[in-house]
Amino acid sequence: MSSNQYMNVPLSLYIHFPWCVKKCPYCDFNSHETSGAVPEAAYLDALETDLIDDIKRLSALNKQSTKIEKPEIQTIFMGGGTPSLFSANAIQDLLNRLKQHLTFAINIEITIEANPGTLSFEKLAGYYQAGINRLSLGGQSFNNQHLNLLGRIHSSSDITTAFENASRAGFKNINLDLMHGLSQQTISNAINDLQQAIELQPTHISWYQLTIEPNTRFYNEPPRLPTDDTLWEIYQTGLNLLAQHGFHRYEVSAFSQSGQQAKHNVNYWLFGDYIGIGAGAHGKLSSAEAIIRTAKTRSPKDYLKQQKCKSSIIDEKSLSLEFLMNALRLNEGFTKRIYEQRTGLNASRLENFLTAGMTKGLLQQKHDKIIPTALGIQYLNDLLMLFD
Ligand SMILES: C[S@@+](CC[C@H](N)C(=O)[O-])C[C@H]1O[C@@H](n2cnc3c(N)ncnc32)[C@H](O)[C@@H]1O
Ligand code: SF4
Repeated sequence: MSSNQYMNVPLSLYIHFPWCVKKCPYCDFNSHETSGAVPEAAYLDALETDLIDDIKRLSALNKQSTKIEKPEIQTIFMGGGTPSLFSANAIQDLLNRLKQHLTFAINIEITIEANPGTLSFEKLAGYYQAGINRLSLGGQSFNNQHLNLLGRIHSSSDITTAFENASRAGFKNINLDLMHGLSQQTISNAINDLQQAIELQPTHISWYQLTIEPNTRFYNEPPRLPTDDTLWEIYQTGLNLLAQHGFHRYEVSAFSQSGQQAKHNVNYWLFGDYIGIGAGAHGKLSSAEAIIRTAKTRSPKDYLKQQKCKSSIIDEKSLSLEFLMNALRLNEGFTKRIYEQRTGLNASRLENFLTAGMTKGLLQQKHDKIIPTALGIQYLNDLLMLFD
């Protein structure tokens, strides 16, 4: 990735779309059921104002007297919620507006998250023609009973149809999201889900273990989850299956064919910068003086009226901890040079942590890289607790 011109740190753009057809009982994202059509035109206007404000913020942070002209971005991620509730025309309009304010890097990765229950061939073809070059399909499971328990609005065959339509529409880079550790899921159910996903030959699979999050229906009405032994078997068998089929695990839950890692997510994990626009979106922006977090108005209704931004400077201890929380998710770890470049701090701050991590067998050092061991990836929280 090349760098943006001001801080030698790559810059990405995240755009949040806060509406869904139905709220899934496990989901704690900023997503809200919509009864009718989404307010496309008004939301696009709000996003554009929000973006212009963030570019001003980036300029002020970097002490530029005039607005930075069209900062260069490496990746765009349209996430949600369900961005695929927006029509292809609206997404085309959005990309045209973005180009008025940003420079798109050559080889830019532009991803849209899509729910298989909201797609037609025409919509997918329209997205592709608009310039979206990566699709992330929320499949979750190929078992209709499990899809039902997860409150999904689509069936197993809808996932296959959406995938085939996307390929026919031109998409070559497709991620499939799957969840495991589901209520009533056996080892063979979970492995069958992975097998069906692999058969479709996506470039990338995100394989998440279901977590029960506060403020979700599952938290208040907990489903009966598989035993720890079953979860362990699912995990080990799944990892082997993915590896056998050429899906390289490069992050805790991310598996890709060779060279097909999600550039946008890798930028998060290596603590790059990102502008975050849309209801409830978060961002991170750097300058030589400070690194700030931004958070936008969360309620979609309020956001449409006014796109407020709360920004705060990340203090030094949090900077190191946040860097480690992200970078240690990566199988390949990080270098001290990247730590210094992305946090502005001296790598000597890490010495005690590195010694403790290596003593406990959770970290290893290979050449200039600091890498979590298999145990370190599995017990990431314990590893992070070693930082003080
Ligand atoms: C930002 S979500 C939105 C994706 C999209 N709206 C959809 O559901 O079709 C991205 C992914 O996170 C995963 N996910 C969401 N909540 C989860 C939870 N509680 N536990 C595990 N994975 C979760 C799902 O696989 C989901 O597709
Ligand atoms: S469709 Fe996706 S974002 Fe919407 S509620 Fe379900 S998991 Fe959450």
